Amino acid sequence: MNKVTSNSEAMTRVGPDTPMGNLMRQYWLPALASSELKSDGDPVRIVLLGEKLIAFRDSSGRVGVMDHRCPHRCASLFFGRNEHDGIRCIYHGWKFDVEGNCLDIPNVSNGNEIKEKIHAKAYKALDRNGLIWVFMGPQDQVPPYPMLEAALIPEGEASIRFVQRNCNWLQALEGDIDTSHFGFLHAGSAELDDFQDDHPMRHTVTNRAPDYHVTDTDWGTSYGAYRLEENGSMSWRVANFVFPFWTQAPNSDFFTNVGVRAWVPMDDDHTMVVLISWKKSPGAYTGMPLKNGKPIPGFAPNIDYLPNTNDWYGRWRPVARWENDYEIDRDAQRQNIIYSGIKMVFMQDQAVTESMGGMTDHAFEHLVSSDQMIARTRRRVLKAALSLQDEGKLPPGVSNPEAMWRARSGTFHTEAHEDWQVAYEKNLKNAVRVISSTPLTQV
Ligand code: FES
Ligand SMILES: [Fe+2]
Repeated sequence: MNKVTSNSEAMTRVGPDTPMGNLMRQYWLPALASSELKSDGDPVRIVLLGEKLIAFRDSSGRVGVMDHRCPHRCASLFFGRNEHDGIRCIYHGWKFDVEGNCLDIPNVSNGNEIKEKIHAKAYKALDRNGLIWVFMGPQDQVPPYPMLEAALIPEGEASIRFVQRNCNWLQALEGDIDTSHFGFLHAGSAELDDFQDDHPMRHTVTNRAPDYHVTDTDWGTSYGAYRLEENGSMSWRVANFVFPFWTQAPNSDFFTNVGVRAWVPMDDDHTMVVLISWKKSPGAYTGMPLKNGKPIPGFAPNIDYLPNTNDWYGRWRPVARWENDYEIDRDAQRQNIIYSGIKMVFMQDQAVTESMGGMTDHAFEHLVSSDQMIARTRRRVLKAALSLQDEGKLPPGVSNPEAMWRARSGTFHTEAHEDWQVAYEKNLKNAVRVISSTPLTQV
């Protein structure tokens, strides 16, 4: 047993035999873009839940994801020859198919007799809608495919991006459910006069200390930040945490806002963020300029990447990073052109969450009422991990993936005193769905 010594560690550590590591192993994990693996192409090194793995695509197009160590004498299969529907270890020539079956043991005369007994440690993999998914739990208890709407967007209609973040998955994720930072980190320089009346960022500037409600749901936790408009209606921004590591942000109209982010733990202090959105969603703030027609300072539209390398941590690294202080522009900060001095929203989040250290020390924090979504999500996550450990209770969405189909974020208006959860359910019925009916696709 990998010892965890506090609730804090129970929530954050993800290696084998940790409470949260076991919880994460109940779910399919998005790991790579389908385009990263070519038939008979080079194997790719990935790190998931503290395990070093290789991924490859065989001659028939099937995907293999397995422990990088050859089960003979542990040479890395990363150097293997991807040939004729299998990967062949370069040390003594043993060959394995995508399921880990041993196909050939050519360095001993009785190879044909013993190969049946040898298996590479392979995990179930799925290639769906532009993403490669991996299941690292009990291989005879494979759960249904996740039913988050954004994960079901047909290939070609989804925008899928990856970004590596060098800190623990939970502290990275919490940046997405921390609503009050928006008016400072991202929009601290903005003034009300900068925006047209219908600009999605106006709310931030009118109220930098948002009021909001938080609730548990079937699939995780949800908050509704509210503000009474001058016309007497209530404006809502609803955002979600969905088990085990998904977030949905309120960055456009609820009815068409199909998008999700996965905060996939690579190990305890590295996270791969997978951003999935429907190309036809109107998108967030970046697309809408200021009243004077100029782009919003600090809202650069794209992430610049370093070239990917073969290193375990070499995929999808931004150019702006800890080593160059995220290219902070102190003049822009001093003159209040960009509050943070960092030129892009996602990188502003990257800078603050990485700056806490690889794993934040929760004992050092002072949570206040603006942190109630974070506190509630932590409690929910911890309880689910301990219930799995102590009672064998499966966490939300594993055996009832259809619950995830009802997770949607975005903005909407209600009558002043209407219950936001009632309004949510009502609006969900009328929301534009990317696929027309609830798909119950099983693996
Ligand atoms: S270590 Fe792989 S074949 Fe020997
Ligand atoms: Fe943010």
